[in-house]
Amino acid sequence: MADMKQTFLGVGYTRDRAGLPLEAVRVPVPRPTADEVLIRVAASSLNPLEYKLADLNFMGRTPPVVLGFDLAGVVAAVGRDVEGVAVGDEVAAMAGLNGDGGWAATGGDGGSYAVAPCFLTVRKPTSVSFRDAAALPMCFLSAFAGLYGAVQAGATVYVPGGGGGVGHLAVQMAARALDAGTVISSGGRPQSITLARQSGAHFVFDYKRDDVAVEIAELTHGRGVDLVFDATYNEQSFAETAKTVRRGGSWIVLGVGPGRTTRLAETHSPVDATLAGRGARHVNVNLLRYFSEPAMLDGEARGFLQRGMDLAMEWAAKGLVVPHVSQTVDSTVEAISTGLRSLKEGGGALGKIAVIVDRDLAAGT
Ligand SMILES: NC(=O)c1ccc[n+]([C@@H]2O[C@H](COP(=O)([O-])OP(=O)(O)OC[C@H]3O[C@@H](n4cnc5c(N)ncnc54)[C@H](OP(=O)(O)O)[C@@H]3O)[C@@H](O)[C@H]2O)c1
Repeated sequence: MADMKQTFLGVGYTRDRAGLPLEAVRVPVPRPTADEVLIRVAASSLNPLEYKLADLNFMGRTPPVVLGFDLAGVVAAVGRDVEGVAVGDEVAAMAGLNGDGGWAATGGDGGSYAVAPCFLTVRKPTSVSFRDAAALPMCFLSAFAGLYGAVQAGATVYVPGGGGGVGHLAVQMAARALDAGTVISSGGRPQSITLARQSGAHFVFDYKRDDVAVEIAELTHGRGVDLVFDATYNEQSFAETAKTVRRGGSWIVLGVGPGRTTRLAETHSPVDATLAGRGARHVNVNLLRYFSEPAMLDGEARGFLQRGMDLAMEWAAKGLVVPHVSQTVDSTVEAISTGLRSLKEGGGALGKIAVIVDRDLAAGT
């Protein structure tokens, strides 16, 4: 680390609950602890979590906080206990969600560094670009946490919102990597419906126009689907998708779940009553909990997430689960804030929005 810069100009928030737009903030280059990897960042991508943290600061961080948790780049230094990656390796990683990310306010001229836990850092195959590698970690791990080990070969699976960041990867994972028999999805816009179909969904409904629960009942001869994975974070969707699970099936939700989506107040949700009427299981998967309740991040959880990162690269290289990057933006406060605003307002982004943090490094592959 001898000739490395001491500080860089990151993008994040400098006041508690400051919200959008984000700000440029000069911060020290982080130092990796024993089991962390320091990454010189080439590319990143946008996730709704980033505007939610800027709005609500619910991890209780003391600002300034640099955002940009999805990372692809080159290893600049490793902690003493790190195995499997070395200085100079091209990697994909997810930064710890209770720490800082890697967006730089340099318009693509690079200069940013972020640390990631070594179990969330994997070597990037040369056939996967930095941009695509950076579009995967958070959304892929979310889909993986919901579906891996839960989808049986031949199962009928419903993933609402198959044009979303998590949704389009979940559809591909179920249909192409986990051998589901039938994958059903939905979208509220023609382009989302197209992306869900391109991702491998066999049937895609328009959730704004169709009565999806009735359509799915017809498709499955009144039985319902074996498994729902709802990553829409939307109460209206939760209430509707719960009605599509078969008796004894599983309803898997990403995040804090029904009644809590605003994080500000609890609302009444009919989901548990609907599921109880079907003897169906309600399962929550939540990446954030590993970082808000560190006791959850035991050896088994670390191993599971590491397996997820390995498979993200393996399946991307094989063309099984490939991110759809609908927009690529330079790493500026304005472009990142505009992209996050479109995620917040809905109806703008499709698949993933990538951020090129270091144009020269990212052009390497
Ligand atoms: N806690 C965790 O572990 C964790 C991890 C990752 C993500 N998340 C959360 O998960 C959510 C999704 O993330 P993302 O990156 O996939 O966001 P995204 O790209 O904005 O996708 C949201 C999707 O939801 C769909 N949708 C909205 N309302 C719907 C409804 N009523 N019925 C069916 N689909 C509906 C949208 O479809 P149209 O655009 O077609 O309307 C869109 O495809 C975010 O709130 C994020 O913060 C949580």
